Order: sequence, then structure tokens, then C-alpha cells
Amino acid sequence: LTSTGGRLEVELVAGRGVTLAGRETQALGYNGSSPGPTLHVRPGDTLRVRLTNRLDEATNLHTHGLHVSPEGRSDNIFRVVGPGESGDYEFAIPADHPAGTFWYHPHHHGTVADQLFGGLFGALIVAGADDPDLPERLLVVSDISLDAGGRPAKPSLPEIMAGREGDLVLVNGQRLPRLDVVAGVTERWRFVNACVSRFVRLQLDGHRLGLLGLDGQALGPPMDVDAVTLAPGNRADLVVSLQRAGRHTLRTLAVDRGGMGMMMGSNDTSRETALAEVRAVEASRSGPPEPKAWPGPGLPDLRDRDVARRRRITFTMGMSMGMSMGMGPGGMTFGFDGVEFDPARVDQDPRLGTVEEWTIANTTPMDHPFHLHVWPMQLIAGPGSSATDRPDWRDVVIVPGGGEVRVLVSFEKFGGRTVYHCHILDHEDRGMMGIVQTQ
Ligand code: C2O
Ligand code: CU
Ligand code: CU
Repeated sequence: LTSTGGRLEVELVAGRGVTLAGRETQALGYNGSSPGPTLHVRPGDTLRVRLTNRLDEATNLHTHGLHVSPEGRSDNIFRVVGPGESGDYEFAIPADHPAGTFWYHPHHHGTVADQLFGGLFGALIVAGADDPDLPERLLVVSDISLDAGGRPAKPSLPEIMAGREGDLVLVNGQRLPRLDVVAGVTERWRFVNACVSRFVRLQLDGHRLGLLGLDGQALGPPMDVDAVTLAPGNRADLVVSLQRAGRHTLRTLAVDRGGMGMMMGSNDTSRETALAEVRAVEASRSGPPEPKAWPGPGLPDLRDRDVARRRRITFTMGMSMGMSMGMGPGGMTFGFDGVEFDPARVDQDPRLGTVEEWTIANTTPMDHPFHLHVWPMQLIAGPGSSATDRPDWRDVVIVPGGGEVRVLVSFEKFGGRTVYHCHILDHEDRGMMGIVQTQ
């Protein structure tokens, strides 16, 4: 679905019953499919979505990574679209919005993990005027477990604690799809990690990958990498070119994202899994030449700006008192700075138009991906930050267990109330979320 004349109007119907991995299931989808339709827009466009809820529970819509207003009918995650209801959304995308790969998913607190795990997500591509002229493909990675009746499986308590991982790993709703490419032709692959908790570490049989952009922000000329790690919510734009005919495997390598070890007795490590079979055939003719110019960062480097305020935000977990989860010796609580999410509390109150430096610390033994809505983060220190001078923009940053990262954020253009949270969505639903209100 592509915008014309500066507008895109779509209806997304959230409902049950989609084909996954070649079989009819009772999983969730938009307009009968998971992933839902891909929305293609341009900077300056208005995106109008009518969200119709055919589920038996409340839902809503979030445009992950878009720099748009968090208020009113825009990216307002406090809205509720009840079962049987429709809600109209209108997203005004600024004319200077970066071009890249974004996505959409529900954000109704308490059921975000269940609804994404069930299959509710889709890609949103902002096309730019200076996008390189390359053949493209979109690869949305997700995982799900289905019970005998084809319904998304309910997670166990240890799975919720660690962040659930599905035993079916899918690409565009398919199990191990075959991707046909032509040897010697450079393509652009847009990846979305739509998993609830699984960290994806992409590798293509040891071939070099060219990193063009992360989280919808262009990096300039492609950076050669062996593998790319995507936390839940992250996207990567890669250039791929296989020089010889043959079969290759796109896989996600095992990622150790830490765990609660003895405490929960669960295995918290994402296993190595094949994602797709890539078949390269000999070229009968050559593809378009490699672009000479690549789009650079669309956002100015914040390292040159004055910092109005420094804050420290810490991922915390504790033991809950009593038996609130109905499971033996109580469970863990998830939060920031020792408190669980409370929609009535403002946790951070940056002034509109200022730059802040946030240190995100993690006192827990497991890695947590930190996500901030609306305003992109420039990663300036921490294990994931790149060694180069190029500004390193993300909207989800991995904060390793026992470690910390530092980011700069320019709270510009949009005032309003929204959230930051752990993008292991089981943690978010359990309270690992805070309110940021800008005015
Ligand atoms: Cu991917 Cu708060 O969202
Ligand atoms: Cu988001
Ligand atoms: Cu977490």
C-alpha cells in the first residue's frame, strides 16, 4: 500500500485466523495476514489508518520509530480501541523525516506481548528522495509457538520472566522461505525484528553484509559487517550481493542475552536457527550498477549541542511480595528505578527543544533492549556503539546485564506524553515502562 499525492489511507482489521508456515492457524493478523500489509509513505505525507478491532479484547496502534506527535489521533498509545470498535488514526509525517524502515504494532498495556506474539505487526517504509536505486526485499522476522488447536501458545511463568521465544521462527510468516537472487546483483534487504523477546543475530553463511542503516536512520556508504544483532524492535537495512551461483543459508546465530540463571532455572539463550534459504543463480545479464552516492544521516550530530540535563534511568527487577502471581514463592517485578509503570506518574519531564543526555543502566543479570518513543536516540557510549565517527542512531538500544549505555536525545518538535520501555514485551507488560512528558 503506497501513498499517492501526499496521502495514504488504509484500513487495518485486527482479527484471528491467518496462514502461517503454510498452515491455517488461529493466530492473529491484520487484514487476514501476518505480517500485516506493508505501508509505504514519504516524508511530508499524511498517513490515515482506520483500525478495526475484531478481537475479543482491546487493542490500539503504535508506529514504532516514527518521529510524529504522540498526542490525539497520532501515535497515542494511551488510546483504547475496544473489541468490535474502530478507531481513526492520523499521522502527519514531517517533511524532514528520515527515510528508512519502520514498523507498526499494538501497544495496549498488559497485552502487547500476547498480541505481537499472536501475529499483530507489519512494516512501514518511509521512502526517501535519494534512496539508492536497488532491487529491494523486506524480511520481517517473528517467532510464535502454536498449541494443538493452532492458537498462539500461552507462555509459562519462566518464559514470561525471561521473555518468551517461540519455537517457530518465521520470515514474512513463512518457515524457511527460499529467496532467489542473481549472482553479482546488489540488493537492499530491509529487516525488522518483530519478535517479542528473541535477539536476532543475522548472518549469511559468512558473506560480508553491508550495513546501510539501523532503525530507519541511514548511515552513509555501507559498512562491512559479518553479522548484525537486532534486539526486538530493531531494524537493519543491508546491502547484499552474492558473487557466485549457489545455495546459502540466512540464519540467526545463537545470542546469549543473559538470564536469571539458577533463580528461574530456564535457558535464556536464543538458539541458532536457519531463517531462509538463499539461492543465487548465474546472471544472464547484469543488474543496475552500484550507486555512487549513498544517503547519509538525515539527523544532525547531537555531540555538538549543549546538554540541558543529564538523567540516569536504571532497569530494575525485584522479588514481589506475597503470591501476587499465584505461583509459589512469588515472582519477579519489572520496572525502572525500583518502580513499576504507573500511567498517572510522570517519570521524565524534558523541556521541548532541549537536548538531554541519558545514561541507561541495568542492575539486572539479563540484557534489556531500551526503547524510547517519538524521539530517536544517538548512542554515544556503551558496548553496542560503533567505533566510527558517524552518528549512531537507534530507537532501541541493548543495555547489557550489569552494564550501561549513554544516549543523546533532542526533544524537539512534538510535546506530549509517551513512554520508554523494555522491548522484551513480556517485561513491558509487567511494568518495565516509564512515562516521558515533554512540554
Ligand atoms: Cu515497538 Cu513502545 O514499541
Ligand atoms: Cu515504539
Ligand atoms: Cu527487559
